Amino acid sequence: MSLLHWEDRYSVGVAAVDHEHKELIGLINRLYEEATTRGSKEAAVDFFGDLFKAISSHFALEERLMRERGYDQLTQHKNDHERLLDELRDIMEDFEASDRFDEKILAQSLDAWFSRHFESDDARLHSVLGDH
Ligand SMILES: [Fe+2]
Ligand SMILES: [Fe+2]
Repeated sequence: MSLLHWEDRYSVGVAAVDHEHKELIGLINRLYEEATTRGSKEAAVDFFGDLFKAISSHFALEERLMRERGYDQLTQHKNDHERLLDELRDIMEDFEASDRFDEKILAQSLDAWFSRHFESDDARLHSVLGDH
């Protein structure tokens, strides 16, 4: 089962960037599927680690682009990335403390964040800097 689905409201209006975001969502779904197939606590822990890595490396690419091109809203954009990573850390810690994993909360938090961040910060970034 997929954790996330691509939604039109995620679109930043640049095909190449939408493609990267679709790939990120695809990767998240693959990791999630693998973890549910394995079905153990260890699998869930691995899933969180891999999810965190996939999202942070997407962010790192964007942040490098912004630094290289002297983007004016680098700090603000980076802070929003940090906010999602903090949220993910909280969800991971809750899981470790309670041993219960609520996939709905994770999916909702990613969906809310993706739609807001993609349509504001990422859309602005890519309209100012163009494709990368
Ligand atoms: Fe992005
Ligand atoms: Fe971003």
